[in-house]
Amino acid sequence: MRSFTINYKSTKTEIVFGNYINVLKKTLKNKRFIIICDKNIFLLYPEIEKLSSVICINAGEKQKSLNTVEYLYSELIKLNADRTTNIVAIGGGITCDIAGYVASTFYRGLPFILIPTTLLAMTDAAIGGKNGVNYKNHKNIIGIISQPETIIIDKNFLETLPEEEYRNGIAEIIKHAIISGDDFFNKLKNNKSQKINDEILRLSIQTKVKFVTADEKEKGLRRILNFGHTFGHIIEISKNLKHGEAVGIGMVLASKISENLNKCNAATTDKTIKMLEYYNLPTTCKLDFKNFEKLLTYDKKNDNKYLHFVFIEKIGKVVVERISRKTIIRVLSKVIS
Ligand SMILES: NC(=O)c1ccc[n+]([C@@H]2O[C@H](COP(=O)([O-])OP(=O)(O)OC[C@H]3O[C@@H](n4cnc5c(N)ncnc54)[C@H](O)[C@@H]3O)[C@@H](O)[C@H]2O)c1
Repeated sequence: MRSFTINYKSTKTEIVFGNYINVLKKTLKNKRFIIICDKNIFLLYPEIEKLSSVICINAGEKQKSLNTVEYLYSELIKLNADRTTNIVAIGGGITCDIAGYVASTFYRGLPFILIPTTLLAMTDAAIGGKNGVNYKNHKNIIGIISQPETIIIDKNFLETLPEEEYRNGIAEIIKHAIISGDDFFNKLKNNKSQKINDEILRLSIQTKVKFVTADEKEKGLRRILNFGHTFGHIIEISKNLKHGEAVGIGMVLASKISENLNKCNAATTDKTIKMLEYYNLPTTCKLDFKNFEKLLTYDKKNDNKYLHFVFIEKIGKVVVERISRKTIIRVLSKVIS
C-alpha cells in the first residue's frame, strides 16, 4: 500500500493506492460509514453491499442534480446518519462530485472518503475538492470546495471500465502531461502499451495536486487546468461528444489560437495532435463557427467582454491571460475556417 499526503493551507487529504476494501477497513476502523455508490458499480462489485449501508444513485450527468441531493439527504436521515458518520463515495466523477457535496453540507459537513472508479475521476475529478451539481442548464453551478479526508485509488476498477470512458480519462492525462513538461510528456508518448501504468497515473495525479494546492479556491493559477476546456465544453454540448474527446479537440484549437497569436510554434500543436492520435482520440471535428460564437459569448465563467483563456507557449508552459472575446472569436474564425 502506497500513499502520499496533499497539504492544503487549512487541511490535508491522504491519497492511498491499493485494494479499496483493505484501505477502507484500515482507515475507518471502528467508525460508522455510509456508502453512496454508482448503481453500475454496485451491480459489478457485489462485495460493496457487505461493507456497510449503501445508497445507490443512477449513472449519468442528468443525475447530477438537486433532486439527487435531496434524495440522498432523505436516505441519510432514514439511516440515522449523525455528525460522526463518514460518507464514502464509490463511483466516477459524477458520484464523487454529488457525494462530496452532500457530505459537505449534511449537518454542515461530514467527513468523507472518495473511491474513484473511472480513470477521469482517479486523475482529475476526485482531486482538488470541487464538489457540486448542475442546475437547469448550468454545469457545476452549485457547489462547494471541501476536501475529502482520504482518496483511495484502486486501479482494479479500471478492468471493468468501458473503453470510451477510459479514453475520457486519457484526455485529461494528456492535458496534465502538456502542462507538466517534457519528462511526463515523453513518458506518455513512449508508453508502448497505450494503457495507463502506475507511474503515469501518479505523475498525472501529482500534476493536478500541484495546481490545486497552489490555488485551492481557484483564484488564478488553477485555471491552467482548464487548458482545452473553453472550447472543449462548447464542443461537448454542441457535438454530443464524450468529454475527453471534446477536450482533446479543444486543446488542439487552443494551441492553434496560441500559434495564431504568435505564442507557440506549429511544432507544439503538432506534438499535441500526435499524442491525441496515439491514444485514439479525435483531434478535429466539423465545427459550426456561428454556434461557437454564440456559445462563447455566454460562457458563465466569464464577464461579458473578456475571458480567461489558457494559451500554450510550449510543452510545460501553459499560461492564462485575460483576453477580449472579440479577439478570440476573430482568431477562431481563421483557425476553423
Ligand atoms: N470535481 C472536479 O474537479 C471534476 C473534474 C473533472 C470532471 N468532473 C466531473 O466528473 C463528471 C464525469 O465523471 P466520469 O467521467 O468519471 O463519469 P461518470 O461518473 O458518469 O462515469 C462514467 C460511466 O462509467 C460507469 N463506471 C464508472 N466506473 C466504472 C467502472 N470501474 N467499471 C464500469 N463502469 C464504470 C458509470 O456508471 C458511468 O456510466 C462530470 O460531471 C464532470 O463535471 C469533476
